[in-house]
Amino acid sequence: EHIEVVPSPNRIKSGAEGVFDERRRRAGERAAQELIEDGMDVGLGTGSTTAWTVAEIGRLLREGELEDVRGVATSLQSHELAKEAAIPLVTLDAVTELDITVDGADQYSENEPTVIKGGGGAHAREKVIDAMADELVITTDEEKATDPLDYPVPVEVMPDAREVVAEWVREAGGEPDLRMAERKDGPVFTANGNLVLDCDFGGLDDAAGTAQELDAIPGVLDHGIFLDMVDAVYLGTGDDVDTIT
Ligand code: 5RP
Repeated sequence: EHIEVVPSPNRIKSGAEGVFDERRRRAGERAAQELIEDGMDVGLGTGSTTAWTVAEIGRLLREGELEDVRGVATSLQSHELAKEAAIPLVTLDAVTELDITVDGADQYSENEPTVIKGGGGAHAREKVIDAMADELVITTDEEKATDPLDYPVPVEVMPDAREVVAEWVREAGGEPDLRMAERKDGPVFTANGNLVLDCDFGGLDDAAGTAQELDAIPGVLDHGIFLDMVDAVYLGTGDDVDTIT
């Protein structure tokens, strides 16, 4: 069901870089249709699923079904998509509260509820914008529901501290792997000028404990475990969207 990238001639409609998956499209669009109301300040998530949310908010604005929505982007990618969709944007430093954030996830566990994010390296800014929202809604597809979570946890780290942070991650039971650029000609740098260690902990039987350990490591800006933040999940399935609250 996964086809590499961007089926539509229209970049806004198709989302961004990433994997096209009809279930993600369904979940992303449905969240925009059901949740976004006039007067809202909306956090705009990063990734191929929320790209559909952004595009759909843009369509609702264009067609007059919405008139008054402001977005705060979680990344350069969502900023660019929101601009193309003509969603009025507010900078993060101009707001302290949001009505809702619609974001994506790399993995989702129904149990906690907990998500792992940061596959796009935007998790530090995403965590701020997700935490600012009265309501955090995750849009994703059914394949990303797993328990226990076992996606390597993205850890954003100060460049000079990468070796010692990697050592501390090993002491905490993780196997860190410096994220490299696609062309393998150097590491990925985040929008904050930092590096990302993808840290494999195997199954996260105690996600809260691991999150706490990572929180305590000096030199770590933030990690991709999002605990106790999620209010609802829009899970794209074969032919529908399941809503989990
Ligand atoms: C970026 C993220 C994304 O939300 C996550 O990678 C999900 O992306 P997609 O919707 O393409 O599966 O955390 O840092």
